[in-house]
Amino acid sequence: MTEWWRESVVYQVYPRSFQDSNGDGIGDLEGIISRLDYLNDGTPRSLGVDAIWLSPTFPSPMADFGYDVADYCDVHPDFGTLATMDRLVTEAHRRGIRVLLDWVPNHTSDRHPWFLESRSSRDNPRRDWYVWRDPAPDGGPPNNWLSVFGGPAWTFDPATGQYYLHSFLKEQPDLNWRNPDVERAMLDTLRFWFERGIDGFRIDVIGRILKHPELPDNPENPEWRPGDRERFRQLSVYNHNYPDVFDAVKRIRRVFDAYEGRVAVGEVFGTPEEIARFYGEPGEPGLHLAFNFHFIHERGHEITPWQAPVLRRIIAAAEATVPAFSQPCYALNNHDRSRFVTRHNHDGLGAVRARAAALLLLGLRATPFVYYGEEIGMADVDISPERQQDPARFRSIGRDPERTPMQWDASPGRGFTTGEPWLPFGPLSPNVAEQDGDPGSLLSLYRDAIWTRKAQPSLHRGRLEELRCDDRVVGWVRRAEGSSPVLVAINTSSEPAIVSLPFDAGTVLICTERGRDGQTVRAALELPPLGAAWVQASA
Ligand code: NOJ
Repeated sequence: MTEWWRESVVYQVYPRSFQDSNGDGIGDLEGIISRLDYLNDGTPRSLGVDAIWLSPTFPSPMADFGYDVADYCDVHPDFGTLATMDRLVTEAHRRGIRVLLDWVPNHTSDRHPWFLESRSSRDNPRRDWYVWRDPAPDGGPPNNWLSVFGGPAWTFDPATGQYYLHSFLKEQPDLNWRNPDVERAMLDTLRFWFERGIDGFRIDVIGRILKHPELPDNPENPEWRPGDRERFRQLSVYNHNYPDVFDAVKRIRRVFDAYEGRVAVGEVFGTPEEIARFYGEPGEPGLHLAFNFHFIHERGHEITPWQAPVLRRIIAAAEATVPAFSQPCYALNNHDRSRFVTRHNHDGLGAVRARAAALLLLGLRATPFVYYGEEIGMADVDISPERQQDPARFRSIGRDPERTPMQWDASPGRGFTTGEPWLPFGPLSPNVAEQDGDPGSLLSLYRDAIWTRKAQPSLHRGRLEELRCDDRVVGWVRRAEGSSPVLVAINTSSEPAIVSLPFDAGTVLICTERGRDGQTVRAALELPPLGAAWVQASA
């Protein structure tokens, strides 16, 4: 199917942390191949995901763990070779799993040959491939822009007496997408991977690739308070979601469209309207899918509370704004944010909420993304200062706690490695082995929900109708022609909650509370505290 992504569940693999095959403590592609059956072996014994997205696997000095790319058309030796990647694609496809890579168009590594040339002299033909400017009259940076990780977004290069722009680390210089040669070269890197059978890309910070051509100062943020993240001191109006980005996205899309069945999923930030704009218009599409991270955070870094009215507002806004020719794309976790179980654990009940969250994510009209370890309820791991790795920790919040190795079992190497892991492990539990045969585990719930979703057209392609519920519950009905409607209801309160059924009677397809599956319900459904259920109308 060309638009396979509409009905798919995608699983994010952080390659360094998924499975090590050679004992160096770093996950690799061979390791991923060995775990493909866990992800989908064609039966409900496996997770059943339809696609995997690998965070960057390209050669890189790893200043930002692969988001500093030194060669877009190869594989980092820590992960394997091009031949291993080819085999991963073949093996994944054999199981019906599509493979997405992570395209980083906003910046390269400072060791990328393009940047080495660019910084070598002011008249190098590649000088203009990056954003170079003279110092301000006082010798300082050309404007007030801040790096996302804190500090100025400019670094002075004494060799040529100019500053270069970097929206992230100084090891990640921003490409100049106003130069058509840059755009051409970057689009060619997409073609390279499409020719090798890659099914699509998650696109890193796509909203930053084009800035205001004059690079004016950003205005101060009047809401910023001491203690807030440094980069929120200013409103990034001239270097984030600048209007020219949306035209570039349409040109990028045309490369995807030249190959059948490829998908572009953008990492985007903004209001529901801004997210929707990345999809383009009918006849002039942009991204196939644009991430909506609002279940994680809506503005800045404030964590979205697990409260029905908030969740309802987020869902309603996405439903109202994403163009009718596509659908939303949600995630509860990723490699940049504290894990769900930890974010919602103020009362020690994060793991309970995670069960309901699974039914929320997989019950929405959307392409859901599951982050490795989410399916077993992995939490953030406290990392002692001497083991910390993420350079963002110096001026921003370090992301190591949510990137620790996958916990496959309770052995010393957790089934992840025979060596010393690049980041420390969490506690012995949770792990896959302990949850595998346990019908009450979170892993079993994820498997059941994913396979149930696959079996029910209402759930994988039905429209979504919001249900009126009190403030303890967020609920909706999924309906598709030729398939019985399914009610999805999530109770975010710590009391049981009653939901009136939108149909006479139904059968519980799946519930966070054990023993309820298959139960017949009439008129009303009782949801356990912090629990959730999917109920299918009786035919
Ligand atoms: C977003 C990625 O998810 C993050 O991990 C990375 O540090 C920045 N983009 C810069 O590429």
